[in-house]
Amino acid sequence: MNVSDTKANLSFSNGSPDVELPIYKGTIGPDVIDIRKLYAQTDMFTFDPGFMSTAACESSITYIDGDKGELLYRGYPIEQLAEKCDYLDTCYLLLKGELPDANQREDFHKLVTQHTMVNEQMQFFLRGFRRDAHPMAVLTGLVGGMSAFYHDSTDIHNPQHREISAIRLIAKMPTLVAMAYKYGLGQPYMYPQNNLSYAGNFLRMMFGTPCEEYQVNPVLEKALDRIFILHADHEQNASTSTVRLCGSSGTNPFAAIAAGVACLWGPAHGGANEAALNMLEDIQAMGGVAKVGEFVAKVKDKNSSVRLMGFGHRVYKNYDPRAKLMQHTCNEVLAELGLEKDPLFALAKALEKIALEDDYFVQRKLYPNVDFYSGIVQRAIGIPVKLFTGIFALARTVGWIAQLNEMIGDPDYKIGRPRQLYIGSTRRDVA
Ligand code: ACO
Repeated sequence: MNVSDTKANLSFSNGSPDVELPIYKGTIGPDVIDIRKLYAQTDMFTFDPGFMSTAACESSITYIDGDKGELLYRGYPIEQLAEKCDYLDTCYLLLKGELPDANQREDFHKLVTQHTMVNEQMQFFLRGFRRDAHPMAVLTGLVGGMSAFYHDSTDIHNPQHREISAIRLIAKMPTLVAMAYKYGLGQPYMYPQNNLSYAGNFLRMMFGTPCEEYQVNPVLEKALDRIFILHADHEQNASTSTVRLCGSSGTNPFAAIAAGVACLWGPAHGGANEAALNMLEDIQAMGGVAKVGEFVAKVKDKNSSVRLMGFGHRVYKNYDPRAKLMQHTCNEVLAELGLEKDPLFALAKALEKIALEDDYFVQRKLYPNVDFYSGIVQRAIGIPVKLFTGIFALARTVGWIAQLNEMIGDPDYKIGRPRQLYIGSTRRDVA
């Protein structure tokens, strides 16, 4: 850690002695005040529910400048990665810190491809679920269940186990998501086909059947690959912090990633793409673009709990750079499928325009996030709304693993254990 020359001084109005706190500098972004010894020195905790001002770890994986609207994976801007790399290159980068050279790329693609099949027994496990179960409920179970099938990669303290479980999770997530989808439909599972790209293989497992050849559409393949890249990591968000906290107990990697899947499900996080599309469909049913003003008024009404889903972000106080890329992909996919006049796309653009000009959103710095357009793209590809968050989980798996491995690989890591301000009753006796 880079220690700053500046120190923070904490003083108290009751005459208690001042406390000097060290400050550390990152390579970019805000400095941090080290409060680790604060409790020992003052008998006091800090209070920061929701982690509004707390850095919970050091990390060299992803950097977000929320004011600029900038996202970097290992220093590379998301725009360049989306244009010049594919998802597996991005996975390599997130896991290993550098983009692969030609040989490393070939080896890594081969390695992931060789692990795409899941243990045959997993389909019987899947059959225990109701066919109408939410795919995220199924995925939480399946990912956690992997620890019951892959015993040889469950020791989180063993670097080889961590490496194999990482590859297994990245390789098998598309297979599991597609199986969850096929199970709900009542169609046979499609085994992975290893001469296809990561995204192409997923499209075939989702939309192919054993009855006929499936032709991968390159525009949809590229769009899906881009969705994967844009969702691959996003530093210490709720699900990533969940994975870190869960993994900090030394639990196995599959269990820690399953905790991330469960957290991602929520509508304030990964569930927002599903919620955003449902919202657009509701407005469409109310009368479409003509009703946008009425809907925005409801969002602004302090007495209503309606939010503009796909808008706002804890960190971005500017346009989410992923939303721009997604909007571009949205245009490409709709053009390819002859859906340029898609009413939901028109509605989304109208909503975005009104919101970006409205004082309520401007003052609160609320801009579209990645989920605002990703739902429209996924729907056009044919992915059912209920599966949107599952696609997000598939893509984010690599980020969760990279963050988990970064934490476990740090010799100074400790089990995560937040403290509290207790406001309950003092000791009392049962009558
Ligand atoms: N629509 C309307 N108002 C909003 C929205 C929204 N989408 N988001 C925030 N606000 C308002 C709040 O009402 C609040 O207003 P107030 O100051 O008058 O009370 C103000 O903006 C700040 O909101 P907070 O909830 O305090 O902001 P926070 O940073 O905690 O929340 C969050 C971020 C949860 C993402 C929020 O913007 C939201 O709920 N957005 C909709 C859900 C969504 O799209 N989530 C996806 C996040 S991206 C991802 O997970 C990939």
